[in-house]
Amino acid sequence: MSSDRVLNAAVLGATGTVGQRFIVLLSQNPMFKIHSLGASERSAGKPYAQATRWKMSEQMPEAVRNIVVKSCDPALYEGCDVVFSGLDASAAGDVEKAFLESEFAVFSNAKNYRMAEDVPLCVPVVNTDHYAVVSAQRAARGLKKGFMVTNSNCSTSGLVVPLKALQDKFGPLSRVIVTTLQAISGAGYPGVASLDILDNIVPLVPGEEPKMEAEVLKILGGVSSDASVCSPLQDLRVSATCNRVPVVDGHTECVSLEFAGEPPSIDAIKQCLREYTCEVQALGCFSAPAQVISVTDEEDRPQPRLDRNAGAGMSVTVGRIRPCPVFHVRFTLLVHNTILGAAGASILNAEYAAKKGYIV
Ligand SMILES: NC(=O)c1ccc[n+]([C@@H]2O[C@H](COP(=O)([O-])OP(=O)(O)OC[C@H]3O[C@@H](n4cnc5c(N)ncnc54)[C@H](OP(=O)(O)O)[C@@H]3O)[C@@H](O)[C@H]2O)c1
Repeated sequence: MSSDRVLNAAVLGATGTVGQRFIVLLSQNPMFKIHSLGASERSAGKPYAQATRWKMSEQMPEAVRNIVVKSCDPALYEGCDVVFSGLDASAAGDVEKAFLESEFAVFSNAKNYRMAEDVPLCVPVVNTDHYAVVSAQRAARGLKKGFMVTNSNCSTSGLVVPLKALQDKFGPLSRVIVTTLQAISGAGYPGVASLDILDNIVPLVPGEEPKMEAEVLKILGGVSSDASVCSPLQDLRVSATCNRVPVVDGHTECVSLEFAGEPPSIDAIKQCLREYTCEVQALGCFSAPAQVISVTDEEDRPQPRLDRNAGAGMSVTVGRIRPCPVFHVRFTLLVHNTILGAAGASILNAEYAAKKGYIV
């Protein structure tokens, strides 16, 4: 049964980069009311405005300024219907498990549970079909109403959107090579030192490449026939090279890919990307973008400053679509790393869960 009531939301990691984005987006969303804010012991006990170095270009919403930040103990979150986590991975493992075991609906941005086989790793404009494993997750963990859904690494979230559209229309892909140009907000605050990133490119984002290579396979895969676990693709090979560049928000990715079968024409690829639609749109979810993939024919787009807010940060912009002399096609994409790449995806995941009756 779908839930149309306003849901009380908690944000864990509320003082961080992703946490602040959650607060901006939730304060504009009619489905949720911000109920509780959590962070580390450094912040607990302080009013949010005092605990936080606010870095969003939007004003801090008035309604959260005086909420007293709590520590991340589930016993303090009575009355919350959904828990959004923007916790640092060092804390997320234990804290998110504790909230799950206390029967909360947990939507996580951290890496800790993304590859657990009974946990959907869901980019909501791509693979809401993976929610099918939630019943098995509850059964295996002895839960009545709690469950966990994670969203992907910020770079993965942009990449899988055009790949999904192409895979659905033209059949399996065999090889993908992606090179990222990742914004500094992806490293949280204070993130990369200014002396490392100004006038520079850092050709390493620690841990990012294996995460992308594994997450793409899980997201583009399916679920087992008994809906007990997710089943990642076996035959796709992905090679990722990740760079940090002096851009504040918006990850750019240069992609070359090969189809397993006969490749479609470039025009057919463009049309497929433009026409791609998904379940959260059909359901009328508040945060679903009108256009999932914004295809640009301008020869020097996408660009972070110009295109990162496409679809309020929930669309992926794809340009420079052209033949690849090594594989079949190559293109450049742009994704907003803290919106579709983090908080926006989590919120849309929760909207979907509410519409489909998972939040009880
Ligand atoms: N930034 C992105 O674009 C992005 C995209 C996708 C996923 N993610 C993931 O999202 C998570 C948050 O990233 P971020 O960039 O927002 O990091 P961040 O700016 O460093 O914020 C981390 C948050 O975690 C809290 N925290 C740290 N240690 C804690 C502890 N022991 N107990 C409770 N809370 C603790 C911090 O609270 P205090 O202020 O009290 O220390 C802060 O609120 C990470 O897992 C990251 O990998 C980030």
